[in-house]
Formats: sequence, structure tokens, C-alpha cells
Amino acid sequence: MGYNLPVENLKLPAVFTYGSATAAYQIEGAADRDGKGKSIWDVYTHLEPSRTNGENGDVACGHYDRVQDDVKLMADLGMKTYRMSLSWTRIIPLGGRHDPVNEVGIAFYDKLIDALLEHGIQPSVTLYHWDAPQTLYERYGLFLDTAEFRADFEHYARLCFSRFGDRVKTWITFNEPYIISIFGHLNGTLAPGHCAERGSDTVREPWRVGHTLILSHAAVTAIYADEFQPTQQGRISIVLNGHFYEPFDRSNPADIAAAQTRLEFYIAWFGDPVFLGRDYPACMRVYLGDRLPVFTEDDLDLLRATSKINSFYGMNHYSSKFARQITDRPPAKDDWTSNIEELSTNIHGEEIGPASSSAWLRIAPTGFRKLLNWVSSRYPHLPIIITENGCPCPGETDMEVAKDDQFRQRYLGLYLDAISRAIYEDGIEVQGYYVWSLMDNFEWSAGYGPRFGIIHVDYDTLGRTPKNSAYYLRDTMEQRRGTSSVRNDY
Ligand code: BGC
Repeated sequence: MGYNLPVENLKLPAVFTYGSATAAYQIEGAADRDGKGKSIWDVYTHLEPSRTNGENGDVACGHYDRVQDDVKLMADLGMKTYRMSLSWTRIIPLGGRHDPVNEVGIAFYDKLIDALLEHGIQPSVTLYHWDAPQTLYERYGLFLDTAEFRADFEHYARLCFSRFGDRVKTWITFNEPYIISIFGHLNGTLAPGHCAERGSDTVREPWRVGHTLILSHAAVTAIYADEFQPTQQGRISIVLNGHFYEPFDRSNPADIAAAQTRLEFYIAWFGDPVFLGRDYPACMRVYLGDRLPVFTEDDLDLLRATSKINSFYGMNHYSSKFARQITDRPPAKDDWTSNIEELSTNIHGEEIGPASSSAWLRIAPTGFRKLLNWVSSRYPHLPIIITENGCPCPGETDMEVAKDDQFRQRYLGLYLDAISRAIYEDGIEVQGYYVWSLMDNFEWSAGYGPRFGIIHVDYDTLGRTPKNSAYYLRDTMEQRRGTSSVRNDY
């Protein structure tokens, strides 16, 4: 697999859409305006000592007050779609199914959705991108109580479908259930910050959280299909993230197996129940034993029925790693990857790719293409949409580096080439690409340090300046825009 063919000749299929992605807490600001309730991130970012580099999303990019300008920028940059998330507590401030609805919050999203459509941009809406209602956390621990969370999420989703579904035709239930489970309830680096050091049961919690997310996704998918899809004619799915994993030592069968197991623990954990309507991967059942909750017959019926309704695989992907099998098993509280270590160099000291300014993110387009193949062979019935992809550049605090963000342009170019080759040479159906992110924003535990935007945000003035990568993407997408509706008919 090389990168020496003239990929600019590889047109993208006509269905392929280009856009950008954001999340409510990362850009909106206006954290307590117009009746909005507190989310777990509003609380987490104000804990002392800070777990978010002393920073928070109170103001963020001020998107709440800049909807018209931001949407116009998207249109000027050639975007035809926009993946955004809804802040649950703007819509239902306390979050629960018996709590009042905040019409001002609904009006904000009405305004945003209408502005997008007026500019010819299709909204793709994520119901949950990490900012759960704090009140529900205090009432019952959110995802730790499957029945309660599911009932509240169903109510919230139904409200969103009924109020926005006349205009929103692509719905995503959850963003990255893996991160919610592991980073929120095992490493504790993201809200609500559960980890063994702070007294949480990391032996069981992450798997319970994952279970809740899977069943809540399925329940809401069924509601959409039964009550809304017949008239609204939209589509629904979930977004899964995941690195690709290469064996640390290619000549060691244990590392070859580890790379596969790591992918299953990361992606198939959710993908198999949700998209195949069946139990967790066998390797997880065997390794985790009774730490992994059990699906009842009713649960499996629901999963089987809804697996066919998901109409795409939403892929968030950034980078690849090497997987190495370790032999000594750690205590259960730290034992969640099937005892596999993740590294950025292999046994020969070769790096997986050049480092960005975030330690975990390196340029590794070959792994991306392999992941597209892996996902497509495991879930062959689903077209793939790249729901997030992007990087922060080294040295980007310097405005000159930010404006001419060559590292990012190179990254994006190589990853787009991987998509073209996956479509053209591997026969994989990829229907769209959302760059992460529209603009620099609040990068969770890293605060405002890493800048992932293709638009620079000056956090003092909240001014926006498109970076060269924004023009690069606009022009490249225009050049590669195909007219064929048949995926491999170029
Ligand atoms: C998340 C984004 C985040 C991005 C970069 C994804 O995991 O969905 O919210 O900003 O990665 O870290």
C-alpha cells in the first residue's frame, strides 16, 4: 500500500458529503444563560484543584451568540453538512422525564438548525456528546442505573425528535461510548471523573456504563423507527471511536492476536451488540467474566431488531498504535484491556507516525485505511461516515503556524487519500467526512491547549480566522467531488 498514485484523480462518490463537527460544551459557552441547567462538565471544570488545566467551557468559543456568523463561515468554506450536539440541560435543565422543558433552549437550536438549512447545510445532530445533566448524576449516578438513565434518555430523545426531526435527517445517539465508559469511569480523566483512586469500582463500573449506553441507544433507535422515521424519513446511528492497532512485534503471534483483541475490546464492545444484534465479543466474555453485564432475552430481541435500523457506521478516528501482549496480569481494577499495552513505537523502535501536539495523536494514514477495512468487514451491511478526524499542529500557539497549518494540511491530505483508496481500491462505501473541528475549542481535560480547529479562535476576542487547512479542504473537496451515484464507477 503506497501513496504514489495520483489520488487527485480519484473522485469521491456523489453521495459523499463534506462538513465539520463540534460539540455543544466545547463551543457554545453561555453555560448558565437562558435557563440552562448544569451538566456534569459545568461542575467538573470548576472542581478544585482543577482537572482541566484551570479552564472551563463557561464562555468557550461564544458560539451561542455567534450562530449566524459561524454558519456563514461554514457555507463560505464549502461545507454541506455540520455535525453538532445538543446540550441536554439547555433543553431539559434538570434532565429527567418529569422535569420541565426549557423553550428558550429549544428556540436556540431551532435558530441554529434553520440557519444551517438556509445556507444549504444539512445538520447531523448528536443527542449526547458527554454533557449529561448534573441533576441526574446526583439523583442516580447516570449510566450506573441502566433503567433510570434509559427512561430519561428516551424522554429527552423523543422530545428532540418531535421538536427538531422535521428538519434534522441524521441523528446520532451517543458520541464515543468507549470514552464515556473508560475515561469517565475508569481513568477518571473526563467527567464525572470516576477512578479507583477516588474510590470508584473500576472493576465493574465501566462495563455497566457501556451496557447502559448500548441499551439506551437501542431503545431510542426503536422509538425513532416506530414513532418518527415513517414521517420524518431520517436516519439514526451511533458514533464509535477507535485507534487502529498494529502488532508491536510482527513476528510474535501473541502481539498479532493482541492487536485484534485490542480492536475488539475498543470497537466491537459496542459495535457487535449495536450493529450485529448479538452479545459482546467472545474475547471480552472470556476475559472479563461476570464483570461484563448480561443481556436478557428481551435485551437481545431489542438489539436484534434495532441492529437493522442503524443506517451508517459513524467513525471517529485520529491515530494508530502498536499493541503488545503483557504476560503478568495486573489487579482487576487496572485490568481492562485484556492486559495489552499500547505504544507509539514498535519492537524495532520505529514510530507509528509523526507526532502532533497531542501525545496520543500521530499521523498514521495507513492504519486509518486498515481500520476502514476492519470495520467494513465486521459490519459489511453499513456504509461508513467519518464523523470526526483531524489533529492539533505542533507549535500552533504561534499565530503564523496556526494560519499556515502545514502539519494539519499534510495530515488531512493523507487521511483523505486513505479514504479515496479505501473507496476506490478496497471497495468500501464511505459516505462523508466531518473534520474535527470547525474551530479551535475546549479540548476537555486539556483545556484550550490543543487547537483542533480549521478555523482559529482568538480566546480573548473570540474572533475567527480560517486557517489554510480550511481552504485546502474546501478546494480539495470541490476538485474531488464526483457525480456518480455508484460508489466505484469513476
Ligand atoms: C471527541 C471530541 C474531542 C476530539 C479530540 C473526540 O474523542 O469526540 O470531543 O475534542 O476527540 O480529542
